[in-house]
Amino acid sequence: MSKLSIRDLDLKGKRVFMRVDYNVPLNDAGQITDDTRIQASLPTVQYALHRGARLILASHLGRPKGKPNPKMSLRPAAERLSKLLSKPVAFASDCVGAEVEKQAAVLKDGEILLLENLRFHPEEEKNDPEFSRQLAAVAELYVNDAFGSAHRAHASTEGITKFLSPAAAGMLMEKELEYLGKAVEHPERPYVAIVGGAKVSDKIELLQNLLRFADTILVGGAMAYTFLKAQGVDVGASRVEDDKLDMARDVMKFGERRTIKLCLPSDHVVADKIDASAKAEIVGTRGIPAGKMGVDIGPQTRAEYAGEIARAKTIVWNGPMGVFEIDQFAQGTLEVARAVAASKAVSIVGGGDSVAAVHKAGVESQISHISTGGGASLEFLSGLKLPGVEALTEKK
Ligand code: 3PG
Repeated sequence: MSKLSIRDLDLKGKRVFMRVDYNVPLNDAGQITDDTRIQASLPTVQYALHRGARLILASHLGRPKGKPNPKMSLRPAAERLSKLLSKPVAFASDCVGAEVEKQAAVLKDGEILLLENLRFHPEEEKNDPEFSRQLAAVAELYVNDAFGSAHRAHASTEGITKFLSPAAAGMLMEKELEYLGKAVEHPERPYVAIVGGAKVSDKIELLQNLLRFADTILVGGAMAYTFLKAQGVDVGASRVEDDKLDMARDVMKFGERRTIKLCLPSDHVVADKIDASAKAEIVGTRGIPAGKMGVDIGPQTRAEYAGEIARAKTIVWNGPMGVFEIDQFAQGTLEVARAVAASKAVSIVGGGDSVAAVHKAGVESQISHISTGGGASLEFLSGLKLPGVEALTEKK
C-alpha cells in the first residue's frame, strides 16, 4: 500500500487520534448485539497501546442527524472495549470542547479515551473545517482504522487530515485494502463474482467494474428478474426495475463482447407474496408464471452456481440470492455461502446482507476475508476512490 501505516509511526508518549468504526447494532435496552467491528479494531488498538500511545478513539454510531441522542451513545462501546482489552477505557461525553481537551491532556502512555458519537454534531457529516480543526486539536498523530467509514468524506475521516499529520492507516484498514485490492489488481483466475440484492441500480457501478476483470458473474436476488425481463423472459409478479431494463441490456451486451460469462437463474423459488406465512414453490423453468414472484434461486441454479464457485480461484460476493431473512426463501443464499466456504479460492464477502448470510450458514471461519465495510467495500470494488483512504499521508 502506498499510504503511511501506523507501523511507520513512533507512537511512544504521543496523543493519537484514531478514527474507528464502532457503528455497531444496539438493541432497545442499549446493549450491543454484534461487536464484530469492536473486535476487528483490537489489533490496531492493542498495537498502539503496547507502544505507549495515548489513544483517543472516535467513531460515529447510527444516523442521529446532527443532534445528541442517548440511544446512539458510544458509552456501551467504551464498556465493551474495556472488557475486551481488560483495562479501563475512559469515556468523554462529547467529541470536541474544553472538557474533551482536558481528558485528552491527562492521558498517560498506554491509556485510552473514547469520544462520544461524532455525528451528534452536524459539522461531522458536513466535513466542516472548524470542526475538523477542533477534533485535531487534542492529538499529535492521526490514524484511520475505520474502513467501514472510508467512503465518507467527513470531518473525522477526511477534513481532520488537513490539520493533523502524518495521517496513517491502521491495521484493519490495511488488511481490508490488501484483500479488496488483491481482488481488483492481479486476481488469481478463474475469478467468480457473485452479485445479488434487490436492485440493479444499487449495483450498477459494481457490475460495470466487475465486467473489467471478472471471468464469471453469478447474478441472484431480485435484480436477476430485471435482467431476465430485459432478455424477454416472463417474470410474473417479480420485483423488477422497469426503468433499468436498458441498463441491464447494456451490462449483458458488454459482458458478451468481453466473453464474460454472466449467469442468470435458470429456475426459481416463487411465492404469492414476500411474507413468512407465504408458501414457497419451485418453478423449474427460466420463466415465472403470472401472479408469482421470484424470491430465491432454484435448486438447478444453486447447483450451477456451486459448480462455478468450485472452479474459482478468486471469489467476491456482494448481495443475497433471495429474500434470505425468511427461512423458506433462504436456501439459495445459504447454499451459495456453503459453496463459497467449501472453495479453496481466496474468498471475499462484503455487504451487510451477504455477511449476515455467512453467519446464518455458520461458515464465517472458512471465508478468507469478511469485510467490516458494507458501503465502503461496495464502493471500493466498484472502482471508486475512498476519501478516507485518499486523505492519508503517502509513504515516502
Ligand atoms: C456502515 O455501517 O456502513 C458505516 O459505519 C457507515 O455508516 P453510514 O452509512 O451511516 O455512513
